[in-house]
Amino acid sequence: MVPIQDASSIAHRLSLGKPLFWLNPACAHDAPHPELEEIEAAAARLQRCAPLLAQLFPELAADNGLIESPLLAVPALQQALALPGRLLLKADHDLPVAGSVKARGGFHEVLCHAESLALDAGILHSIDDDYLKLASPEARALFAQHLLGVASTGNLGLSIGVIGAALGFDTCVHMSSDAKEWKKQRLRNFGVRVIEHSSDYSAAVAAGRADTEANPRGYFVDDENSPRLFYGYAVAALRLRDQLARAGIPVDAEHPLMAYIPCGVGGAPGGICFGLKQVFGNAVHCFFAEPAEAPCVLLGVQDPSIPSVYDIGLSCQTDADGLAVGLASEWVCTRIRTLLAGVYTVTDESLYQDLYRLQSTEQIAIEPSAAAGIQGPARLLSQGADYLGARGLESRLAQATQLIWTTGGRLVPDEEYKKFLERGKIASNETLTD
Ligand SMILES: Cc1ncc(COP(=O)(O)O)c(C=O)c1O
Repeated sequence: MVPIQDASSIAHRLSLGKPLFWLNPACAHDAPHPELEEIEAAAARLQRCAPLLAQLFPELAADNGLIESPLLAVPALQQALALPGRLLLKADHDLPVAGSVKARGGFHEVLCHAESLALDAGILHSIDDDYLKLASPEARALFAQHLLGVASTGNLGLSIGVIGAALGFDTCVHMSSDAKEWKKQRLRNFGVRVIEHSSDYSAAVAAGRADTEANPRGYFVDDENSPRLFYGYAVAALRLRDQLARAGIPVDAEHPLMAYIPCGVGGAPGGICFGLKQVFGNAVHCFFAEPAEAPCVLLGVQDPSIPSVYDIGLSCQTDADGLAVGLASEWVCTRIRTLLAGVYTVTDESLYQDLYRLQSTEQIAIEPSAAAGIQGPARLLSQGADYLGARGLESRLAQATQLIWTTGGRLVPDEEYKKFLERGKIASNETLTD
């Protein structure tokens, strides 16, 4: 594994399909902060819809309809990884109802659409009205006349499908070939129509978009180009800010925060990065983790022409189904180009090892995609000396917070998880005996 910064060699190095650590030369330490208003508007929308969500999903009642995950200390993992400073896990693998990082953005976008339809139809009189009206028979009858479409590698589909069906929309999820069977079955059980594509994610998006937009009452949740998803994902940063403050953990120049987030098309990690930079400015350093065979956001951030992973000879094949994306969202890449610190790529074998490591140290179950953040801190320490040195971070590592974002897993069936674990155990033993 070699750290690289030279833009001209990136495509070649990536094409080898080996793990690499890339520092973003466009990352501007004093980049102007993006606007906070959109993120706050998304947070306010989720807040006013909270009573509605608590009614639709009884498992949210205890948290008054808030879709949020805990911030966890993971001392045993930290010891196993021999990391200085403080190691935390942002446990989005445990997000209720939808079970992944796609929940906040997905729910936010569908609620935006439902809110706007209900305002137009006079069911809601204003945004100060009683949002429980969105679960009334009148609203359900309205939503039933509207098609809600989305394309997904699995978890966005789960998020949109569950909230769409709960509100009564005619909901249709276009699944790429990578999507796991159990995710499709779960959606069908909710009454969602699932269309299976034999193609990759980008082709499923194109087909889903065309199919949905052919319907005059169709609304397509476009993971490649959606401000509504993006700002919904970004709400995580406001929630994290509050969780850190409640835990008495400072984030400032003397106490930097490094976040490691698994990345597919870029929307969820992009929104989180955008939000974190808004909240913490130069004190936060965001690194994305992508499969070695599908580093589409790395390609898209370093080259504004946005090449696909196929263009450089990669396969896009990975067991990290949520990250199996060949072409990044240009919309997202444009927004995070000067904010993202870097990207490192991971092999499937290392994902399984890390999944197993998290279980054996902390008894936490996640899916393979969600394990991509785990090796982030060690990769930064071993391969990011240039980044740490240039920002004077080496001397602050002891007071830094390293934050691994675990992005999915709560809904994985036990039999599936046992297979992941077995594979991780074998991969770990093989590494030990090498
Ligand atoms: C578990 C998991 N982690 C991370 C991601 C990445 O999100 P995005 O595709 O928005 O980059 C996904 C996407 O589906 C996912 O399912």
